[in-house]
Amino acid sequence: MTHILITGGSGFIGRHFCQQACQLGWQITVLSRNAKAAAKRLPEAVKVIESLENIPPQQQIHAVLNLAGQPLADGRWTQARKQVFYSSRIGTTEQLYHFFSARQQKPEVLISGSAIGFYGAGNADNQPVDESANSRDNFSHQLCSSWEQSAAKFEQLGTRVVCLRTGIVLGEEGALAKMLPAFKLALGGPMGDGKQWMPWIHIADMVALILHCIDRRNLSGAVNATAPNPVTNREFSVLLGQALSRPAIFTMPAPIVKLLFGEMGEELLLQGQKVVPRKLQDSGYKFQYAHLQHALAELV
Ligand SMILES: NC(=O)c1ccc[n+]([C@@H]2O[C@H](COP(=O)([O-])OP(=O)(O)OC[C@H]3O[C@@H](n4cnc5c(N)ncnc54)[C@H](OP(=O)(O)O)[C@@H]3O)[C@@H](O)[C@H]2O)c1
Repeated sequence: MTHILITGGSGFIGRHFCQQACQLGWQITVLSRNAKAAAKRLPEAVKVIESLENIPPQQQIHAVLNLAGQPLADGRWTQARKQVFYSSRIGTTEQLYHFFSARQQKPEVLISGSAIGFYGAGNADNQPVDESANSRDNFSHQLCSSWEQSAAKFEQLGTRVVCLRTGIVLGEEGALAKMLPAFKLALGGPMGDGKQWMPWIHIADMVALILHCIDRRNLSGAVNATAPNPVTNREFSVLLGQALSRPAIFTMPAPIVKLLFGEMGEELLLQGQKVVPRKLQDSGYKFQYAHLQHALAELV
C-alpha cells in the first residue's frame, strides 16, 4: 500500500488530495501545526501528526507531498509576513530534508509546492511561458525559487523531485471564493487594464495531476500546474460574470489596487504571464477542465 506524507494537508489542495488518496486506499500521514483542528477537516483514515518524530523508524514512506505555506494573498506583505512566507515553506522543506537524511528509507518521490509566481514580473506579454522560460526578478520569484531549491536537495537522497508551479486553483476556497461575493453583487470586474494573464487550474485537475506526477517516473523538476488555456484578467472577469449571469463591468484602477494591497496587489493582482503546462501535456496528462468556461460552469 502506498504511504504518503503530506505537509499542509489540512489546506484547500491538501484536503481534496487526501479524499482522493483515501479512495485509492493509500495510507496518509499529514504533518500539521494543530493535529486536532486538522483531523476535524480530514477523512477519518488520515493520521495527523504534529512532529516528524511521530513517524516510526520502520515505517516506509513512498511519497511526500509538500504543500505547507502561509497564505500569500491574505493581506499586505510586511517584512514580518514575508519572513513567515519563507519560514513556513523553506523551513518546512528543510525540516523534511533533515528528517529523511537521517533515515535509512528515503521517499521515492517528493512533490513540492511552487507557483506561477516563479516566473516573476510580467504583464500583457503574449508569449507562452513553459518550464524552460526565463524568470524576471521580484519577491514572488525569489520565494518560489528558494522553495524549489530547498526541495531539489532531496535529489541528493536519490528522491525524484517535482516542483509544481501552480496557477490560481479554482474551487470552493482560494481566489474564486474571494472574488465571488463582489461578482454576485454585480460589483466585480477587471483589475488595472485587465490585460495581465491569469493562469488557472480546476481543483479536480490539481489533484489528478499530483497523482500523475507521482506515477510518472520520467517527470521531474519544475512542472507548470496550469490549465492549457490561460485567460487574461479581463477574460476571466467576463466569463465569471457570464457564469453568474451578472455584468462584470466595474474595473478597479491599478493605482487603487496598489494603494489597497501594496506589493501583494502589484505582483498577484496586476501582473501575470501566459503560463502553459508543456511538461504535463508532453507526459500525456489529459485535463478534465481545459477551458475556463467549463470549469466555472461546474464551480459556480
Ligand atoms: N491555492 C492556490 O491557488 C495556490 C496557487 C499557487 C500555489 N499554491 C501553494 O500551494 C500550497 C497549498 O495551497 P492551498 O491553497 O492548499 O493552501 P492553504 O489552504 O492555505 O493551506 C496551506 C496549509 O499550510 C499550512 N500552513 C499555513 N500557514 C503555515 C505556517 N505559517 N507554517 C507552517 N504551515 C502553515 C496549514 O496547515 P496546518 O494548519 O495544518 O499546519 C495549511 O493548511 C501553498 O503553499 C500555496 O502557496 C496555492
